[in-house]
Amino acid sequence: MKILIIGGSGGIGFAVLRRCLHTYPDAQIIATYNNQSPRFEHTQLEWLKLDVVEEQQIEQLSNQLGPIDILVNAVGFLHSSDKKPEKTIDDFDPAFFQENIRLNTVPSILLAKHFMRSLNADDKTFFIVLSAKIGSISDNRSGGWLSYRASKSALNMAVKTISIEWKRKLPNCSVLLFHPGTTDTNLSKPFQRGLPSGQLHSSEVTAKALLNLIQTAHPSDSGTFISFDGTEIDW
Ligand SMILES: NC(=O)c1ccc[n+]([C@@H]2O[C@H](COP(=O)([O-])OP(=O)(O)OC[C@H]3O[C@@H](n4cnc5c(N)ncnc54)[C@H](OP(=O)(O)O)[C@@H]3O)[C@@H](O)[C@H]2O)c1
Repeated sequence: MKILIIGGSGGIGFAVLRRCLHTYPDAQIIATYNNQSPRFEHTQLEWLKLDVVEEQQIEQLSNQLGPIDILVNAVGFLHSSDKKPEKTIDDFDPAFFQENIRLNTVPSILLAKHFMRSLNADDKTFFIVLSAKIGSISDNRSGGWLSYRASKSALNMAVKTISIEWKRKLPNCSVLLFHPGTTDTNLSKPFQRGLPSGQLHSSEVTAKALLNLIQTAHPSDSGTFISFDGTEIDW
C-alpha cells in the first residue's frame, strides 16, 4: 500500500502520517513539506519537498510515485504573520483573498488533475481533502472570515465536481471532503481563546477520525462532505 500525505509537516498532516504508520505497518508513506523537512524519521516514511502551488512540481511528483492507494491533502491557509481573517467587509484585501484561493482551493484541483491516473485501481483508493465546515454556505450564520470561507466553499464545489467525473472514470475511488473540527495546530492557535469548552481537540483525535473514515467509507460515499464526528455536512 502506498499513502501520500500532502502537507505532512502541518499539525493535522503530521498526526495523520503518525496514525498511518501505526495503522498500516506495511505501507510505504510519502509525506510532503513546504518549508523545512520535519525532524522525524521512520523506515516506512519518505519526506519530499513540494510547493503545492507549483503545477510542475505536482506533475513531477505524480510521475515519480506511480500508483497510490490513499492521497490526503492536508495543506491549508488561514492567516499570515501580518494578516488575520476578515472581521468585516472593511478588512477585505484582494491579495489576501487570492492567497486563500491559491492555497486552499487550487492545490486540490491540481492534485486531482495529476494524480487521477495514480488513483485508478481495481482495489479501493481514496482522494481525501481537508476542508472546513466554515465553507458550508447553509451553515453560515455568523459571517466573517470572508476569504477563508469562500476559498473552502470553492474547494467543496471543485472536489464535488471531480467526484462526479471520477464516479465513471475511477469507480473504486472515494473522493471525500473532511472537516477536522477545531484542531489544536498553528492554523487555529490565534483563534483558540474563548472557544466553548470541549470544542478544541488534539490533532491525534482528528487523525483517528480521518483514518476511521478511510476504513469505513465506500466508493458510493464519494462526493460527500464528512465531519470528524462522522456526520455528513450540508453544502
Ligand atoms: N486546525 C483547525 O482547527 C482546522 C479546522 C478546519 C479545517 N482545517 C483545515 O485542515 C487543514 C490542515 O490544517 P492544519 O491545522 O494542520 O494547518 P497547519 O498546521 O498550519 O499546516 C498547514 C500545512 O500546509 C502546508 N503548506 C502551506 N503552504 C504550502 C505550500 N505552498 N506548499 C505546500 N505546503 C504548504 C504547510 O507546510 P509547511 O509547514 O512546510 O509550510 C503545512 O504542512 C487545512 O486545510 C485547514 O484549512 C483546520
